[in-house]
Amino acid sequence: MFARQNVPRYNVRMRASHLEDFYSFLRFPSISTDDNYSERVSECAHWLVGKLTGIGLKAELVPTPGHPVVWARNQHRGGRRTVLIYGHYDVQPPDPLELWDSPPFDPVLKDGYVFARGATDNKGQILSHILGIQETIEEDGELPINLHLVIEGEEEIGSANLGKFLIQNRDSLKSDVAVVSDTGMITRGVPTLSYGLRGVTALEIKVTGPKMDLHSGVFGGAVANPITALAQLLGTLHDREGRVAIAGFYDRVKSLEDWEREAWRKLPIDGDREVLKETGAPELFGEAGYNSFERLWGRPTAEINGIGGGYQGKGTKTVIASHAMAKLTFRLVPNQEGDEILKLARAHLRKNLPKGVTLDITDGHSGPWYLTDPHSPGGEAAQRALRKAFNADVALIREGGSIPIVSQFRGILGIETLLMGLALADCRAHSPNENFPLENLEGGIRLNKAVLRELAG
Ligand code: BES
Ligand code: MN
Repeated sequence: MFARQNVPRYNVRMRASHLEDFYSFLRFPSISTDDNYSERVSECAHWLVGKLTGIGLKAELVPTPGHPVVWARNQHRGGRRTVLIYGHYDVQPPDPLELWDSPPFDPVLKDGYVFARGATDNKGQILSHILGIQETIEEDGELPINLHLVIEGEEEIGSANLGKFLIQNRDSLKSDVAVVSDTGMITRGVPTLSYGLRGVTALEIKVTGPKMDLHSGVFGGAVANPITALAQLLGTLHDREGRVAIAGFYDRVKSLEDWEREAWRKLPIDGDREVLKETGAPELFGEAGYNSFERLWGRPTAEINGIGGGYQGKGTKTVIASHAMAKLTFRLVPNQEGDEILKLARAHLRKNLPKGVTLDITDGHSGPWYLTDPHSPGGEAAQRALRKAFNADVALIREGGSIPIVSQFRGILGIETLLMGLALADCRAHSPNENFPLENLEGGIRLNKAVLRELAG
């Protein structure tokens, strides 16, 4: 097991049934990206409907061309605020499996942390909403607000069908504000309100040379090698400092304001130190003139997420592969536009393609950035709830990650989103040994009870 420093022994005060719910939820391998798991994804959605019905909500499964949306409501009454709580029950694939210390869909509790795929992202977080709602109904007989709880099964693959769900149910879903806990806490015990997200847009490229794999002795030197060509092409995406070298890429990027850079420097955590500690990278890297928080929250990137081609087995094989591929994503910041960035990227790739090969480009999912005001009335209510639940000052931050649907809550439903996440920097979301501390499940339950009260006004 990997080392966790300074973890105090944790006494589980949590209600046994809450823990049971958490484990049951985590046991579903609700991997949205892999068709082989569709049935399991749907079982997870059914489990949620059962759980939500059990606590007294009216819950239904809304089918989509992909995975179903779980939609639950309480009895709505006039004169009350309406709150839309959003999260996702799908998870990233657990690969590489051999790097897990325990099976990813067989949750275990170690020193107060529950280990399983989805423990933080997003099952632990969304469950803290559900259990907060449950405890509020148990204690008060009802909720102080009108509730829409929307839990989707396609967040990790770009939320392609959720926009349509919002459009089709626009009138019924009319709300005053959205609440999402799919973001991070700056560090343990420091309640955090995030007022921005980066956007993300993806594409896949395939470089093709000869029509089939070739003997590299018989043909090597007389035809271009697609893997070499791909490596050269990918090498043109950045300069040596990590600045993106695509013409026009930064044209619309809004400069960071002095007040914001100053506020981030006053946060109780040093971003540079945190990045070194969490990642194990030998040194910091990135655009000159920015520190790690600024690079992560306020600057755009081009990333190569996957690369393939040629012989990957044991030993050597003297071959020239017919093709090579790579998967790219771009993180976007205000005021970049995904479609425009894809267009610039495609033009750059075509222009810089080495001789002797052809290029195919396929666009992937896309989601815009988000920026809101943490001092709006909703933002202030969120901060009061955060302070109350964690008994500490609230950190105001932006996030490097993306939640594509949040900008559609604004665009389609006309509401702002309060991002009050519970993910820690070492939660290992999307990685082996993903985990969530029970401390945050408990804190999250307290937070959600307080949020409902504060938002009721
Ligand atoms: N929960 C994350 C997004 C996140 C992580 C926001 C950390 C803020 C802090 C979410 O589940 C996620 O991973 N989203 C994807 C979106 C993509 C697949 C369209 C992402 O950011 O890569
Ligand atoms: Mn998530």
